[in-house]
Formats: sequence, structure tokens, C-alpha cells
Amino acid sequence: MRVWMQRFLLALTFMLAPALVEAQPVAPVHPVLASGDLRTNLDLSGQWHYSIDPYRDGMAGFHGGDPGLGHRRYDTTDVAAAMRDDPAALYEYDMTRAPTATLPSSWLTHDATMRHYRGLVWYQRSFTADPRPGERQFLRFGAVNYRAHVYLNGKSVGAHEGGFTTFAFEVTGLLKPGANQITVGVDSDRSDTDLPPPVTDWETYGGITRAVTLVTTPATYVDDAWVRLTRDGRIAVDAVLDGKGAAGGALTLAIPALGLTLDGKADAAGHWTARVPAPVALERWSPDTPRLYDVTITAGADVWKDRIGFRTIAVEGDQILLNGKPVFLAGIALHEEEFGANPTRAITPQAARALLTEVKQGLHGNYVRLAHYPHSEVMTRMADELGLLVWSEIPIYWRVAFDNPQTLATARHMLAEEILRDRNRTAIAIWSVGNETPVSAARNAFLSTLAKDAHALDDTRLVSAALLVGRKQEGGASVFTVDDPLIPALDVMAVNAYNGWYTPDKLSDLASFVWRSPYEKPLILSEFGAGALAGEHDATRAHKFSEEFQADYYRATLDMASRIPFLRGMSPWVLKDFRSPRRQHPVYQQGWNRKGLESETGARKQAFDVLADYYAQHHP
Ligand code: GCU
Repeated sequence: MRVWMQRFLLALTFMLAPALVEAQPVAPVHPVLASGDLRTNLDLSGQWHYSIDPYRDGMAGFHGGDPGLGHRRYDTTDVAAAMRDDPAALYEYDMTRAPTATLPSSWLTHDATMRHYRGLVWYQRSFTADPRPGERQFLRFGAVNYRAHVYLNGKSVGAHEGGFTTFAFEVTGLLKPGANQITVGVDSDRSDTDLPPPVTDWETYGGITRAVTLVTTPATYVDDAWVRLTRDGRIAVDAVLDGKGAAGGALTLAIPALGLTLDGKADAAGHWTARVPAPVALERWSPDTPRLYDVTITAGADVWKDRIGFRTIAVEGDQILLNGKPVFLAGIALHEEEFGANPTRAITPQAARALLTEVKQGLHGNYVRLAHYPHSEVMTRMADELGLLVWSEIPIYWRVAFDNPQTLATARHMLAEEILRDRNRTAIAIWSVGNETPVSAARNAFLSTLAKDAHALDDTRLVSAALLVGRKQEGGASVFTVDDPLIPALDVMAVNAYNGWYTPDKLSDLASFVWRSPYEKPLILSEFGAGALAGEHDATRAHKFSEEFQADYYRATLDMASRIPFLRGMSPWVLKDFRSPRRQHPVYQQGWNRKGLESETGARKQAFDVLADYYAQHHP
């Protein structure tokens, strides 16, 4: 086929692809159990038995097919008794006598032998339940990294893919009065078509890293609810009832502090939508005034509740408007790792507060990029409470299989899970659909589809992606042009730029850089940074990994940033050092990415004050 014909067909594909893919509805998520962390829960945190299964004998026999009796960790067999009573019986596992670990926690910290374990681990515990007639029960998981296979009393209740989003399975009818056994097979292995692909610049914390709870609801309950302030100044509610009484069910929204009560009736599908003018007394949420309101939706015997802030976020030209006024997002990026020498990604309210207080109080920031995946709901609720705007993202990271339809389906489902869990979190301002992804027609179609899904699921927030930027020399000047073909699908442009760290640029040259864009949209520097080992000093200030170089890198980059006319925010990389297997310099890194402004234990480096002073001075 002639080259011109190939190019024409490629262009045609690119033009048609979004339309073809766009026709499909947004990925369904059920049950949503919105704000399920606030429902009556039996918290299953605590001691669980665990058993490694690197060759997945518990999932399949040695010729394929079902696993053998002696390998099915999810069975309810009392192995000790079975082998005692029948000397010929052969079991090659025994969960009740397996080691124990305290969950939620990544298995990397269960013991030293697990530090580099990748693959399948079985977890099991027993718990007492009291299921009552007319109620429904769900097992809700904050996150399981990467695949979860869930069994209750020896029966499969479902499987889930994705290491960072909340999911639930209904277990009504499977739950027994008295003792029950839950078994979870957790597989951390990822293939090139998974999200993220196997190569990332962060540690794979395999395991059950967030809370597991047993949620109880009435027979008909509020499965999804979204309450927010629309850009035209109304309080909006969208609720979905689930159960026999859903169709035509009566609902009442109440915000007592505003004296607001709104009655409604669900349609035949159990959906209720209503809009009312916002009461004059409404105090809008902002980083300076992080006002949250108790909100309930009563539907029959169910009372759904949440704590919600009301604000608007929009783009006007190249400005970002918070509550109608231009705002500069003065932030920092961070991974989901608690402070400490041996993090396990178990984010308690205390851990979240410690991290975000460093942003708010330490750096005088108003914004945080929660990279590179949806963080714990503990973290997003803490951002609501402390008053930090949030960039939230799904792990569409680096070399994703953009031409694989299953990968796209996984991404769409992951995005829907993220948004449906968190769209009542007022702190979240931006949904991001990608990070440093190589440009291609397939990538543009894939990310455009995600951007359209994000807008369809949530018309109150902004959509962005962390892009790379083109660079040319023009008459001796370095010109950076922000013109990624994805930008028309985004509300906010964002680029990661590491001039002077990953490039041979002299720090003194950065101020002369020229930044341009053919698009009139706000720009965020979604990453820039340099590494330093806390306590490493260099009188010449020239050597990388010294605190002095990192501090000078920040001074030079902030000077460059202040000269970008359409820059509306930044989230330098990164608040604290974090684990990354890609970083193995034996003196400076030892398996840690050292671009933190603080060490892993929270020791502030010189550059911390450089950024803090900059924000205090330029964006108070
Ligand atoms: C990239 C990437 C980060 C990574 C950082 C680095 O921009 O987005 O995940 O950690 O650079 O190189 O430190």
C-alpha cells in the first residue's frame, strides 16, 4: 500500500477512533457503596494468616484445571484435624497454622524474606458475624495490589484487578451467623497489558494495603450519591437506590447546618436527581476555609452520610478559577508512603495528617499531587479537612499497551472506580489520565477516551495529564513548546520537566528558557526535581545528590517557572524520598528515589526551605 494511503488511513483512524470508542457508555461499577467507609462496618483489620504461593498451586493443578484438594487454601477444611484423623490424607498447606501478619499492610514488611516477593500470597482469617433477615452484607476492600481473588466460607465471591481502587462484593446469603472464614488470594504480578505496566519508578507494594470491612445495609440502600455545588451556583444531588424498594423510592437530602431539606422520589431505575439554589448561608470550601458540611440522604431504613465541602473549580482562558477567583496551585507531589524507614503503604489518619501537614504548614502549600494512582480515601478525606486541593490520577504510566482493547477497558473501569469513590471529596480539583506516556495515535485515542469518561462522570472538575514538552533551539535560546496532541481533550496542560537534572543544562541557563503553547490553557509543572541524600554536603555545590545542588536546582527552576506567563500551578517531585527498585546507587540511593525534599523519615533537606520560602513569598 502506498505511503500516502497508509498515512491517510492512520489519520482517519485517529480521527474516527475516539468517536468509535466514545459511543460506548462509561464503564459500569457495582456496587459503588459510595462513602462506604462511613457506614456501619465490621473492620476486619488485624491478624490474618498468610501463605505464599509463587507457582499459583492454589489456583490451578499442575496440568491446569482446578487446584488439588491439598492446595486449595480457600477451602474450609480443618487441615490439622483431617491429617490427624486420616494418616493417608495429604495437604501441602495449612492456613490456620501459617504465619500471621497485621493487615492492612503490604507483605513487603511481613518479614525480611518478603522484601522482594512478587506473585501470589493467600490471606485468611475468621470472624464472627450476625447477619439479620432483611439486611444486606458486603465485603469492601480499600485496595488490594494487584489482583484479588476473594472467597467466603470456601466459595468464590469475586475477583478484582487494580491495585489502588476500592471495590466490594455482596455476600448476603453466604454469610453465616457465628464463625465465618474469608480468604483472599493477592497476586502482585503485572503484565505489559496491565495498569501500570511492570516497569514503574516506585515499589510494588503487593498485598492488602487498605482496610477490609464487612458493610451492612438495609434491603434497599443508597448505593451511589453525589452531592456538590454546580458552577451555576446550585446544590446538586444524584443518588442511586439499590434493592427491591429502589423504583419510586422516597428520598430526603438534608444538610442541617444550612437548614436545607429536599424530598424526592427515585425513578423506575432507582435514580434521583435534584438541583436547588445554594442557600445564601453556604460557606464555600477553599484551602483557606476548608468548611465541610454533614450531609445525609435518607431512603426508607437507610441513612447515607458524608462530610462534603462545596466549591467550584473551572478554567477561564489560561486561568484556573476556584470559587470564581484565579488560584495558583502551590503544591508538591507525593507517593502513598508513610514517613519511616520501612513504609508499608498503610495510611492511617495520623500518617496522612503527618504528610499533608508538611505540605500545608511546612511548605505553605495549597495543593498536592497524589501520584501516580488513586490514594487511600483516608488521604483524600484528610485533604478535605486540612484544605489542600488535589490532583488525583490512575496509573496510566509510561509504556502502556495503548493498542490493547482489554487494557483500555481496565483503564476505563479503574477511572470510574476512582471517580465514583471520590467525587464527594471537594479537595479533588483535577482528574489526571496519564503520566509521561509516549505520543502515538493509539495513545491519543486511549487517553482521549479516558478524558471524555472523566468529563462524563464528573462535570464539576478539571481533566489533565502529565505530558512531556518539546524543545527546540531558536537563535541560541531554548524554546519549550507545550503542544502535545492530547491537549485539546484536556482542561489543564501539565508537563514534567527536569532540566539540569536529567539534561546537561547548566542551572544558570534555566532562567533564559522560553516557554510557549499554541493553546490558551493553564499550565501546571506537574513535576520537576533533583535528588539529594539528606546530610550529603558539597562545598562546590556542583555535585548531584548533595543538598546544596538540590537547593540550587530548586532556586534555578523556580526562577524559570516564575517567567512562564501561563503557569498556574506546580507540584515539584517529590515531598519525601520513596522506595524505587530502579534507584540502586549504593551510597546515595540504596533502593530509594532521593528527589524528596525530605528524607524517608522526614528530615528536611535545604531545598525544602527554598520551596517553602518561594510559596510564602510568591503565593501566600
Ligand atoms: C518521572 C516520573 C516519576 C519518577 C520521576 C523521577 O517524571 O513521572 O514517577 O519518579 O520522573 O525520575 O524521579
